[in-house]
Amino acid sequence: MTVKTPRAFFAPLAVGAPTPFREVPVRLERMIHFVPPHLDKVRAKIPELAGKVDVVLGNLEDAIPADQKLAARAGFIELARATDFAALGTGLWTRINCLNSPWVLDDLTEIVAAVGEKLDVIMLPKVEGPWDIHFLDQLLAQLEARHGVGKPILIHAILETAEGVKNVEAIATASPRMHGMSLGPADLAASRGMKTTRVGGGHPDYVVLADDAGAAPRARFQQDLWHYTVAKMVDACQSAGIKAFYGPFGDFSDLAACEAQFRNAFLMGCLGAWSLHPTQIDIAKRVFSPDPAEVAFAAKILAAMPDGSGAVMIDGKMQDDATWKQAKVIVDLARAVAA
Ligand code: GLV
Ligand code: MG
Repeated sequence: MTVKTPRAFFAPLAVGAPTPFREVPVRLERMIHFVPPHLDKVRAKIPELAGKVDVVLGNLEDAIPADQKLAARAGFIELARATDFAALGTGLWTRINCLNSPWVLDDLTEIVAAVGEKLDVIMLPKVEGPWDIHFLDQLLAQLEARHGVGKPILIHAILETAEGVKNVEAIATASPRMHGMSLGPADLAASRGMKTTRVGGGHPDYVVLADDAGAAPRARFQQDLWHYTVAKMVDACQSAGIKAFYGPFGDFSDLAACEAQFRNAFLMGCLGAWSLHPTQIDIAKRVFSPDPAEVAFAAKILAAMPDGSGAVMIDGKMQDDATWKQAKVIVDLARAVAA
């Protein structure tokens, strides 16, 4: 038997390729929808759910009770076997337990052996540096070779420790298997010693005050707690040619705040977010698909500058090579959404 060298699966990353800007690759992943696979009633709904979301993720890590870890793993294998995700165009991911947990080795060996061929992406929590990605990369290489898995299983890192944020660029480029990265605001807040119990979103005390106007109460402007990390993550991901995602929003009762957080991430360059509750699926679909008026304007720019160079005025606004590239990002996304 010829054992495929897993690295031969991959073309090198197109770093420095002479394209006018970096093309963002592959499929639509506006929402990564988390499901707890140990629950029978959740598994029963997967075929219907899979037609409605871009990605189904079977969660094995946090939020799964310690005494249900094995049931979650077995449930994930069962749901992966029961539904033809590829035929629906839906991604199948799992979030495994973290690398120093007692469950992760069995998560990997059992899942790759049973359903490796069907699995698109493994989400790896609490990534601290490139060494975590190297370890998983090699383990996957062994398991794929042993079980004859014909396509590489990709890795998606959660950025959720202070050490991870410090090493974000090295993580992004650690392996050709890197699919992308998500911000994990809950673990990250704890790791940094931030004083919030919220999962994502703002905080009413994280404000700047307007200048003192004498007797009038001073206006308070709430700031975005996550701006710095999202920007840092997007730069690391885009420059490595991988995808950036916002992670979870924990207050299911505040749909407006969830939408605002997702929209900030979208405008900053993220391609999707996690949905933890059915109501968040539609929010992510709406937010991470471009606005039709914006698409129409972007299409006008592309049409006015067929070779992407020069300068023209459209509706009183100056356009040039740089705005042509901005327009192409939006039109490409609209095409992917329509496909
Ligand atoms: C996600 O895993 C988070 O910690 O926010
Ligand atoms: Mg976490």
